[in-house]
Amino acid sequence: MAIHDILKMGDPRLLRQAQAVLSFDTPELHALVRDMQETMAQVNGAGLAAPQIGVDLQVVIFGTGQVNPRYPDAEPIPETVLINPTITPLGAEEVEDWEGCLSVPGLRGVVPRWQRVRYQGWDVQGQVIEREVSGFHARVVQHECDHLVGKLYPMRVRDFSRFGYTDVLFPGISAVEDD
Ligand code: NI
Repeated sequence: MAIHDILKMGDPRLLRQAQAVLSFDTPELHALVRDMQETMAQVNGAGLAAPQIGVDLQVVIFGTGQVNPRYPDAEPIPETVLINPTITPLGAEEVEDWEGCLSVPGLRGVVPRWQRVRYQGWDVQGQVIEREVSGFHARVVQHECDHLVGKLYPMRVRDFSRFGYTDVLFPGISAVEDD
């Protein structure tokens, strides 16, 4: 097990279309997920995608468990491992809210996302996961799955007057929550 460095925007490995996982419940897949969980916990992330640690596979993890100090006001999201995911919007409603990304440290921006989505994929054992979610949960899964198609949230910002440095936008946020 290991905590990995998180790649930062500008690294071409963040721009790839990730490969599908072909074999479930393997030692290698379990080790990857454990490494991602340790890496995410180290930085109090709400989600992490395999490409962010340089692994070219369609694996994301997300969840807030108990209250995450970076997102104290958000509804809890179950700890989830999602492999080879697909997301389908439910309805045409979009919502805007602030996002940050561990690969874009120190910045936040307002990003439009689908308000309600269905997502489908597999867990590490190969069991099907299918959920209909909304709000922050829907936002997080859309953000993480974007990493699997080479998209970082700044590519989805429409209004760059609402994109900037966290410590300037939100002076109350401490340095440890800066990314
Ligand atoms: Ni991200």
